[in-house]
Amino acid sequence: MSFAAKPYLRSVTIDPAADADPDDYPFSIPAVRELGVLEPHPDVTFFVGENGAGKSTVLEAIAVALDMPAEGGTRNVLREQQEVSPLHRCLKLVKGFKRPRYSYFLRAESLFNVFTYLDSLPGNPEPSLHLRSHGEAFMDVLQGFSGDGIYLLDEPEAALSPNRQLAALAVIDRLVKQGAQFIIATHSPILLAYPRAKILLFDETGISHVDYEDTEHYAVTRDFLNHYPRRLQQLLDDAD
Ligand SMILES: Nc1ncnc2c1ncn2[C@@H]1O[C@H](COP(=O)(O)OP(=O)(O)OP(=O)(O)O)[C@@H](O)[C@H]1O
Ligand SMILES: [Mg+2]
Repeated sequence: MSFAAKPYLRSVTIDPAADADPDDYPFSIPAVRELGVLEPHPDVTFFVGENGAGKSTVLEAIAVALDMPAEGGTRNVLREQQEVSPLHRCLKLVKGFKRPRYSYFLRAESLFNVFTYLDSLPGNPEPSLHLRSHGEAFMDVLQGFSGDGIYLLDEPEAALSPNRQLAALAVIDRLVKQGAQFIIATHSPILLAYPRAKILLFDETGISHVDYEDTEHYAVTRDFLNHYPRRLQQLLDDAD
């Protein structure tokens, strides 16, 4: 397939006509209030930021606005909606001219339900995804993705060992080169190293672009691993 099909998702903004009450969730979250124009990378876009900065809220709203179920899964399945924020109704999405053949939203909390659905499909992979470990099953699902699709992943590293995160990078790269677009909320300094990507930092000022080595994930992890005995001494009263 041609790269011209990408990006499937070009931009996301808040509809100026939306009733955006800054005292109410989700507009009480600074990054949502100050979302501006969120322009995903044609290949991979990472959402980073502190816990509670609004990454999952925005990712989920984009998923629902793209007609994927909030529960996770594809647009054809898992109609069972969990409680979602009203943000998706306030978003304006600019999509590419070509519709992706596949779209998938994977969030750590609902992988169990996604695995149940995939197990129930005719020709499902053997053995049952429920008999695989969390990370093995996640990798099975990732490897089953097609290049002709858009994929939203919320903290995929929750399932993956460091080695599997490296393997996931290789799978994501293969899919990107076959035409896939990813948006990934993550805290993983390994996943964030992927080069065909844009990193968007969610904080109290809104959403801004940041380079890999300027992320807290890279700096804190690197500093800790290089100096962990001293850092532990500083952190823990009882460390030798
Ligand atoms: N239904 C809700 N009603 C009110 N506040 C909510 C609701 N859901 C989430 N929040 C709040 O919105 C904020 C953003 O949550 P969100 O889950 O988007 O953060 P996040 O950036 O994904 O964090 P993490 O890195 O921990 O996953 C948090 O302070 C959370 O408590
Ligand atoms: Mg989250």
